[in-house]
Amino acid sequence: MNTTVITGIGELATNDPARVDEGGLLGLVHDAALVVEGSRVAWVGPAADAPAADVQVDAGGRAVIPGFVDSHSHLVFAGDRSAEFEARMTGQPYTAGGIRTTVARTRAATDEQLTSHVARLVAEMRAQGTTSVEIKSGYGLSVHDEARSLAVARQFTEDTTFLGAHVVPADTTPEDYVDLVTGPMLAAAAPHARWIDVFCEDGAFDVDQARAILAAGSDSGLRGRLHANQLTYGGGVQLACELGLTAVDHCTFLSDLDVESLRDSRTIATLLPGVEFSTRQPYPDARGLLDAGVRVALASDCNPGSCFTSSMALCIALAVREMRMTPAEALHGATAMGAAALARDDVGVLAPGKVADLVLLDAPSCVHLAYRPGVPLVAGVWQAGRPVV
Ligand code: NIG
Ligand code: FE
Repeated sequence: MNTTVITGIGELATNDPARVDEGGLLGLVHDAALVVEGSRVAWVGPAADAPAADVQVDAGGRAVIPGFVDSHSHLVFAGDRSAEFEARMTGQPYTAGGIRTTVARTRAATDEQLTSHVARLVAEMRAQGTTSVEIKSGYGLSVHDEARSLAVARQFTEDTTFLGAHVVPADTTPEDYVDLVTGPMLAAAAPHARWIDVFCEDGAFDVDQARAILAAGSDSGLRGRLHANQLTYGGGVQLACELGLTAVDHCTFLSDLDVESLRDSRTIATLLPGVEFSTRQPYPDARGLLDAGVRVALASDCNPGSCFTSSMALCIALAVREMRMTPAEALHGATAMGAAALARDDVGVLAPGKVADLVLLDAPSCVHLAYRPGVPLVAGVWQAGRPVV
């Protein structure tokens, strides 16, 4: 198998738990090298000890990090909501009411239009260092449109999520819609999905509805995750912890009990600071969560309404500047914890045997991701061992 050695890495963030004692949370190795064999990492260590390989790449003293794992996105949609954003910036609140606008545009799009739009966004993400992405449905809200949204998403990732329970469409009642989501829509969606998600919030689905939808998904072999506590306090986070879901996302409005539930569970709190940036909501208390011992991931939530960014580097900068995460916690949250939030143990870590998804930064250290906000620092991306940027 073809081997490549990347030498001259000034700072290598491995996220390898075996390297925490010397390298801190990120398992940093300085003056490092990394060998890729086929699609996997074969060797990591000091450059002086690096084995020979077929191809040699010199990082020139720059930093290398694991590719970002963006565990929360809504890429299957048509149209945009820039007018809604513009109105919001002059004082209109974000209510999620605009979801129905995107549903109408999405239903009217052809499969080809949806596919090429997702391809464009995935390429945009890859160019910024994202090598794994979760993609949700949720702008179809009919049996046909949810199934085809997931079929489109499946062309780009294994981590597809059925979010038929995004909002109740205008032409039906909540009771009838929950029956549809848990019945024929789930049956049509499940073959294309790995996960099931519910927007558990006032104005969307309540805790009892979310519980029923997640149970039906579980019966169809889908793993649960939840949008919860985004716009107000509520029972979503505690439901996620009670059910032992892999991740609960947003976590903007948390009571003390919510934090205790997260602390006492394995459920990851996925924070989406691009949403607060784009909606002018208060940021979640990442510092409080981390200090309580909660596992925290960062993701983009890229969608046309609450947050239309695909930049994980922006999320890191916001998490450090606005949520008091350390630069190391933020990068770890955007890589290793993103992988954990998708129950993936093959990505997010650079150690022998892991998928060779990595990013060469045009910077001497990982701290530059937060230190130089808005600057395109991605100098190269390898996905499954192949250079793609
Ligand atoms: O995660 N909150 C629910 N869903 C998306 C926003 C959807 C939209 O506004 O189009 C979110 O923020
Ligand atoms: Fe979302």
